[in-house]
Amino acid sequence: MMAALSLAASVSLAGNVVQAVKVASLKDFRCGTKLVKRIKWTPVAVYPQSTIKLNDKRALELHKDAKGKIVEVGALTDGKEIAIVVRWPDKSKDVYKGYKSDLYADGFAVQFASSAKEPEKLPYIGMGSDGRPVAIYLRKAYDVVYEPNGNGEVFYQVNPHNLPYFGKEVEQFNKEVAKRGASIYQRAFVGEGFRSMTQIKDGSATYRTDMHYVRKRGGMWGGTVIRPIEDEYAAPTKGEFAIAIAVWDGKELDRDGLKRLSSWIAVRLPGGKHKALERVVNEVVKGDLANGKQQFETNCASCHRTRDFQNAPLYMAPGLENIGGQTTAAYLRESILDPNAVVVPGYNRNAHPNFSWYMVDEKGNRTSTMPPFNYLDKKTVEDIVAYLQTQKAEVE
Ligand code: HEC
Repeated sequence: MMAALSLAASVSLAGNVVQAVKVASLKDFRCGTKLVKRIKWTPVAVYPQSTIKLNDKRALELHKDAKGKIVEVGALTDGKEIAIVVRWPDKSKDVYKGYKSDLYADGFAVQFASSAKEPEKLPYIGMGSDGRPVAIYLRKAYDVVYEPNGNGEVFYQVNPHNLPYFGKEVEQFNKEVAKRGASIYQRAFVGEGFRSMTQIKDGSATYRTDMHYVRKRGGMWGGTVIRPIEDEYAAPTKGEFAIAIAVWDGKELDRDGLKRLSSWIAVRLPGGKHKALERVVNEVVKGDLANGKQQFETNCASCHRTRDFQNAPLYMAPGLENIGGQTTAAYLRESILDPNAVVVPGYNRNAHPNFSWYMVDEKGNRTSTMPPFNYLDKKTVEDIVAYLQTQKAEVE
């Protein structure tokens, strides 16, 4: 408990700001190469996702008391490209080996806000939002990737369980698959909200990733994403990016939305200075916590769960048990005053008439079923925001 507290304290002191270090070239940069020594690491906390509950009893059980983790984040740049480098503790190396249904892979993702021009209106942390796009780079620890490999060899993408083969024939088949399959699972996406996540397949996103496990410090992963400083998907504002980090732990059955996620982090290129962004990513509201909690109970707890209030039905609204670790104060304020500014993906009223998180209007725009609380006075809103910022798991 003490150790967790002191770590958490050092996190808020260091702040969610990463200073990118200038190097001559990133051409041959990978995990484990010498340049890693030049990195200035910033500890950043990632927290379990609790927005929506997965329909998986075992996973839920494993996540009930899930803790946060510290991910160290650094950046290098050669003036043309930027490398975001992360390392995080993970006791077991879980690598996906093919069709084994109960095995999930470790992995990580780096999300770039397309722009940090309006730090108070950064995209929804869970994959962007309407009009506020993100670019996401995902890497997972896979042995062999069974998927269309561009050669049209569809036959080898069949689930082996569905094959009319036995014994040696299966072995032979698996060898062929391994030969044809790629050994790297990496993806780039653009997203303006969960349902608009689109994989970039046309080659317009240049990037590369790497992932490497070491037994040091009880086991840890290192990972890197390298992309141009500027492309059509993201560009710095005043020399700074807003990024977020997600990590998946295969041992805990993490997959898809089930992961640990950071809040927004400012990444400063050499010479970059975007004070407003740094202020937003580090803002801690000093409100009256007791009043905030009470106001939350009165106004919000019938729809939302937090660590203190667990009576709201799951289908009413996102779980806020870790909201304080994954959002900025500016986002929380906006969520209270103007729920339609960002509509969190969840249950749609068209599909679930008796409960829903949002509705779709004639123009196809999603509108929140949460009423705006813009009639609350400023102090009350600040107290609620302060209370919500305390909502996060302990850090391991
Ligand atoms: C009638 C039910 C209802 C009430 C009451 C309600 N909310 Fe919400 N809230 C929702 C729904 C549904 C969403 C998801 C759609 C959206 O993003 O607006 C949401 C979203 C949010 C989010 C964004 C969550 C995320 O994961 O990003 C926050 C923060 C939030 N509400 C806080 C509050 C606070 C604070 C109050 C009380 C002042 C409140 N809500 C009252 C239904 C409600």
